Amino acid sequence: MRHTMRALNILAAFFCLAEAKRIPVEQRRKVVQSFSVRRNASSDTTPLQVGNGNFAFGADITGLQTFKPFAIMNTWGWHNFSLPTTPGQTSVEDYTGLEWWTHGRLVSYEQPNPAQNDISNWLRENPHRLNLANVGLHFGGHKVVESDLEETTQELDMWLGKLTSSSKYKGSKIEVQTWADSKSDTVAVQVQSTLLKKGDLGLFLDFPYPDKEKFNAPFVGHFNLTAKHQTTLKQLSPQSAQIKHTLDDTTYYTRIQWEGSEATITGPLNGTHRYILTPKSSSKIQLVISFSPTPNSSKDKTTYHQITTSSRNWWKSYWTKGAFIDLTPVQSDPRALELQRRIIQSQYLTAVNSASDYPPQESGLVNNGWHGKFHLEMNLWHTLPFARWNHFDLFHRSLPHLYTDLLPSSLSRAAKQGYQGARWGKMTDPVTGRSSPGEINSLLIWQQPHPMFFAETDYLSHPTLTTLHKWEDILTQTADFMAAFAWWNASTGVYDLGPPLYPVSENTNPNVTLNPTFELAYWRFGLDVAIKWKERLGGQKAPGVWGRVRDRLAGLPVVNETYATYEGIRDMWLAPETTFDHPAQAGIYGLLPYSPQLNLTVVANTARRIKETWRLEESYGWDFAMLAMNSLRLGDVEQAVEYLLHPIFRFDDAGYAVGGERVPTPYFPNSAGLLVAVGMMASGWVGDEGVKLPEQWVREGAVGEGFVVAL
Ligand SMILES: *[C@@H]1O[C@H](CO)[C@@H](O)[C@H](O)[C@H]1NC(C)=O
Ligand SMILES: *[C@@H]1O[C@H](CO)[C@@H](O)[C@H](O)[C@H]1NC(C)=O
Ligand SMILES: *[C@@H]1O[C@H](CO)[C@@H](O)[C@H](O)[C@H]1NC(C)=O
Ligand SMILES: *[C@@H]1O[C@H](CO)[C@@H](O)[C@H](O)[C@H]1NC(C)=O
Ligand SMILES: *[C@@H]1O[C@H](CO)[C@@H](O)[C@H](O)[C@H]1NC(C)=O
Ligand SMILES: *[C@@H]1O[C@H](CO)[C@@H](O)[C@H](O)[C@H]1NC(C)=O
Ligand SMILES: *[C@@H]1O[C@H](CO)[C@@H](O)[C@H](O)[C@H]1NC(C)=O
Ligand SMILES: *[C@@H]1O[C@H](CO)[C@@H](O)[C@H](O)[C@H]1NC(C)=O
Ligand SMILES: *[C@@H]1O[C@H](CO)[C@@H](O)[C@H](O)[C@H]1NC(C)=O
Repeated sequence: MRHTMRALNILAAFFCLAEAKRIPVEQRRKVVQSFSVRRNASSDTTPLQVGNGNFAFGADITGLQTFKPFAIMNTWGWHNFSLPTTPGQTSVEDYTGLEWWTHGRLVSYEQPNPAQNDISNWLRENPHRLNLANVGLHFGGHKVVESDLEETTQELDMWLGKLTSSSKYKGSKIEVQTWADSKSDTVAVQVQSTLLKKGDLGLFLDFPYPDKEKFNAPFVGHFNLTAKHQTTLKQLSPQSAQIKHTLDDTTYYTRIQWEGSEATITGPLNGTHRYILTPKSSSKIQLVISFSPTPNSSKDKTTYHQITTSSRNWWKSYWTKGAFIDLTPVQSDPRALELQRRIIQSQYLTAVNSASDYPPQESGLVNNGWHGKFHLEMNLWHTLPFARWNHFDLFHRSLPHLYTDLLPSSLSRAAKQGYQGARWGKMTDPVTGRSSPGEINSLLIWQQPHPMFFAETDYLSHPTLTTLHKWEDILTQTADFMAAFAWWNASTGVYDLGPPLYPVSENTNPNVTLNPTFELAYWRFGLDVAIKWKERLGGQKAPGVWGRVRDRLAGLPVVNETYATYEGIRDMWLAPETTFDHPAQAGIYGLLPYSPQLNLTVVANTARRIKETWRLEESYGWDFAMLAMNSLRLGDVEQAVEYLLHPIFRFDDAGYAVGGERVPTPYFPNSAGLLVAVGMMASGWVGDEGVKLPEQWVREGAVGEGFVVAL
């Protein structure tokens, strides 16, 4: 197997090399720049962003946050509200969760305890992610609204990471350029206008206080809760200043540095945390604004020019080193161009919002969903595109250290519940590693085998001892839990999953949910990878229970020759409650690698039944990508394209995935899913490598290169 993997990998690498010249850098640039985003007014829902995966700056039509308080967010900016003062609920240790009967014994789950509402809610709402600041144009104290500006235009050049915005105020032109550093939490801004020299134009910085709502969209935080937090200004030099922001126990620093003009910085304005920077000697000023958790005493002044160079270089390398697909030669089918737009803009937005040191939230760094926390089950979608598109530097930003970091809390969660190994949490954050209390949070299980999926993906492209070693402990602890969690049903002679559990579609009664199709298939895959991993490590022997569980798991539940959501589900396909939410039974073939356990007739029947009966209007996000991938493996390329352009699967003018009825905008699992599906279309999968694009598109010159085949 190891040799087969190696051989496949070499083959894939050879493919890339052989094709490497098919899309020259110049052609890539033209394609990327042909989808530059142009706006002439602020959007009500989405900013235009510059960023680097760990830091992003969301701008309105002015290139700043002048009229719309879009966010500046990052990986380390988090905050706690004060703990409740309710007796018996004043500390994290007071929280007990709830016990549910689980195969004849009481098991403790991290669920909201009705007798401990205050601390349960606190744990869910804290810590939450901060909007660090707002930076905008300041019109000398005059109240100016967006409609007071004329000739507003804006262009985001994704090849350079450059946002250019221009407008006229009372006849004078204002031009703004906005860039982000590729490596730090730094934004660089250039403002040009004769208004600067006249003292009629400056910049403001303002600092918000967070909000405990689950969703903060489109904006994060409040600027009028001034008494709850403190800011102080310190002039560092004639050309730089620092603002210290303290919110309860959280403190961070904003360093502002300017070139090209003398300027003064004053504030805060009475009753606010608003500071005003007033240039005076020139009609051009360049600012470098940098955020850090400790005072930035670095003497080496990073210049505006250095930031713009860093942005250009990083983006050029991103666009030229990774995989690329060019569908623009296709003339006969307008869907190709729309797909290409979604691909380019999704590549840009996932690099800005999702390529972080910890998993991103569903809304990336645009706004907050679920308090800014991330979800371990969704992380498969978020991180997979970086592997498929050959951006392993970004894939490895969070992997595998995410799992090493969460290992202690996951081992103790499993131990507390009476299982061996590590039970990964669900909705969590990089600061505490806690799993937020929630019924679904505590009973969802499809995040458990993700380490195996990631490890196998890593190994496919890096079949080395280093890869084996870095995932070894994580896989062992994961497999130990998975084997222990499967319950030996003596009357049927198989291992069961659940109850209680929630399957991928979070819409069933957990107390009757037994043997969900996707989870069974995924458990088998995960244990199989763990066993192979031991073999690859020089013939180590896996614990016998891993193999016993893998080989004797319950069979995939079938109803009328289709795969059901779970075993014993009533009215599968017939009742409305059995045909909505994530159609995960399509994932056993669409997402997971082929297993001989699958009956492909049943897989095809299931795909047809989903198409006929599933209420896709209530689906969101990656469902469409997964259905497209299932169609691809079934050989139906036309259906795959149709799913990827389904009317519910929407992307706005800048490429942000529209959340729809159930989640706010943006919803980045859609973007990631699209890229994973397109990667599969461009390169196939292990055992069936090669282009799966519509034949007519290929005849007209559609081409892709550099992809890593799917598992
Ligand atoms: C602004 O953009 C919209 C949509 O792209 C377009 O319809 C409209 O004509 C533009 N307005 C101006 C003044 O350029
Ligand atoms: C919030 O509180 C937790 C303890 O519950 C602590 O670990 C963390 O450091 C605090 N601060 C932030 C920003 O999360
Ligand atoms: C499932 O069982 C738990 C107790 O184990 C109970 O609290 C909960 O209400 C039940 N849920 C449903 C939907 O029946
Ligand atoms: C404070 O700002 C929020 C928006 O962040 C707004 O909804 C609210 O009405 C404001 N409150 C006051 C008293 O102005
Ligand atoms: C600041 O605002 C408060 C009320 O918000 C007011 O009483 C006070 O006079 C103001 N001070 C100045 C210097 O404007
Ligand atoms: C300090 O600020 C400079 C910008 O002047 C930035 O390049 C650097 O990364 C910052 N250092 C830290 C530790 O944030
Ligand atoms: C054993 O499996 C059967 C069929 O799946 C199921 O109905 C039964 O509830 C299981 N037994 C227990 C004790 O869970
Ligand atoms: C399964 O087939 C039987 C017999 O044809 C039919 O009565 C039943 O409604 C079908 N059930 C489903 C879920 O299609
Ligand atoms: C696959 O399923 C079909 C339809 O239920 C059945 O007729 C066939 O025998 C199955 N094939 C295998 C190999 O089990």
